[in-house]
Amino acid sequence: MTLPRLEDLTDLGPGTRVLVRLDLNVPVKDGRVLDATRVEAALPTLEWLREREVVIAACSHLGKAKGAPDPRFSLEPVAGVLADLLGAPVRFVEDCVDGPVAEALALAPNGGVVLLENLRFHPGEKGNDPAFASELAAPFSHYVNDAFGTAHRAHASVEAVPRLFEPGRRAAGRLMASELEALGRVVHDPEQPFVAVVGGAKVSTKTGPLRTMVERARTVLVGGGMANTFLLAQGHEVGRSLVEPDMVETAREVMALAREHGTALVIPEDLVVTDSIDAPGRVEIVPADAVPADLMAVDIGPATIARFREALGGARTVFWNGPMGVFEVERFAAGTVAVAEAMAACPGFTVVGGGESVMAVHRAGVADRIDHVSTGGGASLALVSGETLPALAALEEGR
Ligand code: 3PG
Repeated sequence: MTLPRLEDLTDLGPGTRVLVRLDLNVPVKDGRVLDATRVEAALPTLEWLREREVVIAACSHLGKAKGAPDPRFSLEPVAGVLADLLGAPVRFVEDCVDGPVAEALALAPNGGVVLLENLRFHPGEKGNDPAFASELAAPFSHYVNDAFGTAHRAHASVEAVPRLFEPGRRAAGRLMASELEALGRVVHDPEQPFVAVVGGAKVSTKTGPLRTMVERARTVLVGGGMANTFLLAQGHEVGRSLVEPDMVETAREVMALAREHGTALVIPEDLVVTDSIDAPGRVEIVPADAVPADLMAVDIGPATIARFREALGGARTVFWNGPMGVFEVERFAAGTVAVAEAMAACPGFTVVGGGESVMAVHRAGVADRIDHVSTGGGASLALVSGETLPALAALEEGR
């Protein structure tokens, strides 16, 4: 099966009612949207639909709502941001099903947009409940899913709902398509040399991507807290560094897989270590095999940065996920910023795979020099791990 696209939709015209699942799970504080990247990413699909004068009901989850209304997780602040970006009014609807939706749709002009309240205010969303899915889908003749960031969740609005629409009445949006193309190119058709950078705190949350990268890339650069587990697996002491002793065996397996595939798995050769992240008294650069017992690693060191830079400079494809250290603290951000800058300078095809690494490329001011910055954290990791994403399967298979 292939994924249906916007162009595959049939019977779409003025007044057609389309339910559009977006991932508008953006950071909101005191009623203000702090980062509108995901709202901006939804525009191409919404604009394509508006050109056809359909009536759009956009829906999403936000935050960790627990199946009941919670004002902290209301999507209302997002409506204003969406309206500004679209240059058109967006009516906010205080629920995502029943009367309020029917009323808003009846009042919406052709080409109009309404934004429904947080789907997770209903337990049926996370429960993938068929009754909730039917209620959500009922007022609409067409369904579009552009919520790439949620594609790894088997939740009602992305799993059960698309199965209620016939072929020609359901499709993936523009963002979904561009994410799949960019991440797919990295996983299935990378131009060599392909260099992957994998960081972040834990091996346990990145086992799938680590294995995929070791199988596909020519070089895998490992940084961040997870590097400590690899160092431990090589028999080195890691002092008070964050480490996962129960993942040592997995790290050994990844190292063995790299040898089998002839992949260079590069572990830091030096580290920035400290006695405290919040109130550092001692900050030193030490060889990775000589971390003092009373200190902890918080960044890769200058020799490692130079080694990583050199590898990235010659790459034709780069995939990066996970920071190289505690980059939220300025003093320990050098390794992460260096990777972001080296990627921006790389002439090859560069992809940043969601989450904290996205924050890092923005912080380094280089996001516009990266070929693809994914809007999905967990979804991009699931995709590169070769997992079947429930939302994509539902769009492809239907009933
Ligand atoms: C994300 O931010 O990664 C997606 O919106 C999914 O959110 P969730 O982890 O709360 O399901």
